[in-house]
Amino acid sequence: MLAAHSRTIARVALTRATLRPTAAIGVRFSSVWTNVPMGPPDAILGVTEAFKRDTDPRKMNLGVGAYRDDAGKPFVLNCVRKAEDKIMKDLLDKEYAGITGVPEFTKGAAILAYGADSTPLNEGRVAITQTISGTGALRVGGVFLARWFPSSKKIFVPTPTWGNHIPIFKDSGLEVNHYKYFDKKTNGLDFEGMVSDIKSAPKGSIILLHACAHNPTGVDPTPAQWDELSKVVKDAGHFAFFDMAYQGFASGDIHKDAYALRKFVKDGHLVALSQSFAKNMGLYGERTGSFSVVTSSAEEKARVDSQIKIVVRPMYSNPPVNGARIVASVLNTPDLHEQWLKEVKLMADRIITMRTQLKNHLVNDHKSKLNWDHITNQIGMFCFTGLTPEQVGKLTSEHHVYLTKDGRISMAGISSKNVAYLAEAIHAVTK
Ligand SMILES: Cc1ncc(COP(=O)(O)O)c(C=O)c1O
Repeated sequence: MLAAHSRTIARVALTRATLRPTAAIGVRFSSVWTNVPMGPPDAILGVTEAFKRDTDPRKMNLGVGAYRDDAGKPFVLNCVRKAEDKIMKDLLDKEYAGITGVPEFTKGAAILAYGADSTPLNEGRVAITQTISGTGALRVGGVFLARWFPSSKKIFVPTPTWGNHIPIFKDSGLEVNHYKYFDKKTNGLDFEGMVSDIKSAPKGSIILLHACAHNPTGVDPTPAQWDELSKVVKDAGHFAFFDMAYQGFASGDIHKDAYALRKFVKDGHLVALSQSFAKNMGLYGERTGSFSVVTSSAEEKARVDSQIKIVVRPMYSNPPVNGARIVASVLNTPDLHEQWLKEVKLMADRIITMRTQLKNHLVNDHKSKLNWDHITNQIGMFCFTGLTPEQVGKLTSEHHVYLTKDGRISMAGISSKNVAYLAEAIHAVTK
């Protein structure tokens, strides 16, 4: 019966196809998309594709920015598993969240970033909305600023910066400019260049600052340098937009990693902030983040809130609830919060240990004549090795180590089993 039915469908389809061949071909050839050019592949995903094709057992993927445990496996935090269990047991409904998301989540996220003792938070003048992770926060923030920031549409980002910043802000309607950041000679911060570029930006520009664990360089200003930057940004009449994608993940301490943001707020800056829970809670695919703005009064907050809602509503209407429920549960349940602090430190410490081991292998085992101090001076998920594009090419073709052409390696992809091999490969292409 079923077979006869499918034979009939097949016959009808065949008849239709043979009866209207020119129409079918015509549809194909008069497509409205014939003038769409092929776009370039994503630089980081391209590295992963090449890695997958390599069959050598020693191969390493140091392109991707996601944490791996010491066995090279994705890591789901135990506090997250427990929160998920609780959420399942509570049999919560699947109703829409409001436009600005799950309130327990945004409340917890704001306290985490600004601190429980934050004056603007306690005075009810921080506007916050849940977003589609950090990327969504930057995009909502970019559109909000393009629409309402009074003095300028110019945003200044560091050179280099996370690759996605540039298209996000361009697509938001902002004009992207750059300030100096990385010093190739020292593999450290070009603080003078940074300060001088920020000072000479047109008064009232938007300055994008990586709050901690700068991506891709792993180079951060010191607390004293942040203090000075706060003054420089204020004296120049600029506006600080912090991107905090790694709170806790950088040093293992959520308060230390929030130093820059909290210092600026304490100094009276009315900042904007993008937060992501992708790395510090391992919630990559849950797409959980927030965008917030410190305003000057509760009344102003209400107006800003209303305009953020007007940005969000036609973009994605309201955010997904699952990741936000997990974060809210972890942040707002004392024992899960405690466990999270330990787990985020565990991830940060593993990365710091890999930095030390990689440097020790290069310096002590291979007696490399180069200076590798930057490996341990840099912080967070990434290390900007200082390798040239040619050395990167050799590392990949001769040693099966995959990384982006700029020499950035994801420290999270290194384990106690492959760190010695990586050092040997780096030494071979740099000696
Ligand atoms: C500096 C920076 N900002 C924002 C993000 C946003 O990530 P997500 O959208 O996954 O939260 C990332 C992720 O790599 C990042 O490195």
